[in-house]
Amino acid sequence: MTLQIGSSGLRLYPEYFDRQAQGAVLAALRGVLEAAPLFTQRMPKSGRPMSVGMSNCGPLGWISDERGYRYEPAHPQTGRPWPAIPDILLRLWSEVAQYRHPPEACLINYYDPNAKMGLHQDRDEADFSAPVVSLSLGDSCLFRVGGIKRGEATRSFRLNSGDVLVLGGDARLAFHGVDRIYSNTSTLLSEGGRINLTMRRVTRAPSELGSNLGAPESAVLGSSNR
Ligand code: SIN
Ligand code: FE2
Repeated sequence: MTLQIGSSGLRLYPEYFDRQAQGAVLAALRGVLEAAPLFTQRMPKSGRPMSVGMSNCGPLGWISDERGYRYEPAHPQTGRPWPAIPDILLRLWSEVAQYRHPPEACLINYYDPNAKMGLHQDRDEADFSAPVVSLSLGDSCLFRVGGIKRGEATRSFRLNSGDVLVLGGDARLAFHGVDRIYSNTSTLLSEGGRINLTMRRVTRAPSELGSNLGAPESAVLGSSNR
């Protein structure tokens, strides 16, 4: 089942991965995080630490520090290239992205029960014709999404373990953020908290003609504007 939320480019696949598949993603991720441990990103200019622990896999990884936001090929602390994106995630991308080139970056976010992420746009990529594909694991969160201008009305809904959210088309540049984590709502992560994975295309791919064929049928999710 797919739920289309507001604008047509925002698609939610509730529990796309069942518990067993979530465990398989997690096992692959543990290997990734051994090679590329979570680290603390810093806000541009102020250098203030972010509350969400991050790492990456894929040819490129998203980095934030005093110099700004950017993608880099290596972990800032180990200096080693990011590990490859696990096959199970590449398969997810090919199933839902409706984009013919593979993702180049997968940002790994770890939220402890007190972590949150302010409203922002994902706009450090060169090609917005590719969607951002997001997978949630572990504790549920309250996710907020708005329009493509800051200050437009937003709506909030829960993302649960196994849910996949696609921000594409007219929602590719939608403001979004995580208001709170609901502790102890999942037993998937022994340490508690929430992991979110977002796969992105970073560089401009060759001609994208025909990449939007085969969109799945969607239902409309009623949700309140706040
Ligand atoms: C992000 O915007 O990078 C993460 C969103 C989420 O944690 O669901
Ligand atoms: Fe984001």
